[in-house]
Amino acid sequence: MLLKKINDQSAIIGVVGLGYVGLPIAVGFGKIGYSIIGMDLSSEKIEQLRVGHSYIPDVSTADINKLVQTNRFTASMDTKPLAEADIIFISVPTPFDAQKSPDLTFVRSAVENIATILRPRQLIILQSTTYPGTTKEVVLPILAQTGLTVGEDFHLAFSPERIDPGQVGSAGFDIYNTPKVVGGMTPKCTELAATILAKLTPLIHKVSSPAIAEMSKLLENTFRSVNIALVNELAVLCERMGLDVWEIIEAAKTKPYGYMPFYPGPGVGGHCIPVDPYYLSWKAREYDFHTKFIEIAAEVNSEMPYFTVEKITKILNEQGKPLRKSHILIIGVAFKRDIDDARNSPAQRVIELLVKAQAFVTYHDPYVKTFQVGHNVFLEKKHMIENIPLTVENIKSADCTVIITGHSNINYQRLANHSLILLDTVNVTKKLYVEGENIIRLGGSH
Ligand SMILES: NC(=O)c1ccc[n+]([C@@H]2O[C@H](COP(=O)([O-])OP(=O)(O)OC[C@H]3O[C@@H](n4cnc5c(N)ncnc54)[C@H](O)[C@@H]3O)[C@@H](O)[C@H]2O)c1
Repeated sequence: MLLKKINDQSAIIGVVGLGYVGLPIAVGFGKIGYSIIGMDLSSEKIEQLRVGHSYIPDVSTADINKLVQTNRFTASMDTKPLAEADIIFISVPTPFDAQKSPDLTFVRSAVENIATILRPRQLIILQSTTYPGTTKEVVLPILAQTGLTVGEDFHLAFSPERIDPGQVGSAGFDIYNTPKVVGGMTPKCTELAATILAKLTPLIHKVSSPAIAEMSKLLENTFRSVNIALVNELAVLCERMGLDVWEIIEAAKTKPYGYMPFYPGPGVGGHCIPVDPYYLSWKAREYDFHTKFIEIAAEVNSEMPYFTVEKITKILNEQGKPLRKSHILIIGVAFKRDIDDARNSPAQRVIELLVKAQAFVTYHDPYVKTFQVGHNVFLEKKHMIENIPLTVENIKSADCTVIITGHSNINYQRLANHSLILLDTVNVTKKLYVEGENIIRLGGSH
């Protein structure tokens, strides 16, 4: 019955959590002909969707508007409409707490809500990145409390999301051609989940359990974390040895096999690379296993904002200036280039350390309109940092300008021409062939 509905496109798709992952999935299915019921706790997001507006740069307002106008996309803060959905994707946040232990509050509350409307023949697919065992040990018990049996009455699977916000389509990959991994609680769960996902992308890789699918996502992100840590460590060493790490990477990159370039920077940000390895380490401890390699990588990466601030201090010192009361202009506070998401961004910690040292900090980011730091162990009070336009006067007023995120729509030539000192932590000035005595690179030879 569900299989038939999936194949004739009469299946209704529910999406719980309409953020960077959920909204593209909802619109992705909408565009190929399915009707969507979205649910989110954010009244602002629901309001925007109701009037046909997108708040995610990778999703077009035109696409949402079309779906809303034709009544094929409804969104609300209410769980009840989801009773009509045949398939429900869950894409809610999976952050860590202050001690870096997994915080599954959002997953639990989303699943508890779904349990209130769960009915036979529904398929639930968890997409949030999490530790192996979550679907079976956390999600299933909540759904099973309804008295319904998995694999018989309802179906449950895990399928990780691989979206790369801000880069969608840039490397030729989007939601319709990125392979999806899927593992269900039973073979039938896997089969049904694979069938609906295959409507989106023909490249489906079925695995034997949700735990395998959960772990595969953690492997992908931990792989990035470990490799970024390796080049970060190399960058720190290169500085000491007076070698340019960027030139070294360019040279190594010419090997056509067995090497993949990763780049150093002021830290890793977002809600995946700095978070996911801790999910795995936490779960591993239950098995008396310490993921040393993964934790060393996380440690190296989390040291980078401190290293960046040390470098700023050193640069100012060479100019005969103390960090205290110096004006530091930060370029880019989003966690990566060309996106508006500033969660866990390296700029956060860098700015907190600078403010703590009583530097005067401003920033410029065309994507992130307002930015606040503090209210944690680093800075007791919240501080709003001023977003200033990149006028020549503003650039000249800074004792040191620091590029933390290399957005592509910033005039680096102007920055290079007018900055007293420009610290480039991501080598974006090199890419643009901007050279100058006043430019210093993290991991560079001077
Ligand atoms: N953003 C990415 O690049 C990316 C890529 C792959 C995987 N992921 C993973 O996907 C998951 C979601 O990430 P995201 O970036 O989309 O997060 P997000 O914060 O952009 O979106 C999550 C949404 O869920 C909503 N929400 C929270 N609790 C809810 C509940 N109980 N019911 C309904 N809605 C609820 C929030 O209001 C928010 O709109 C995370 O596990 C993340 O690690 C993210």
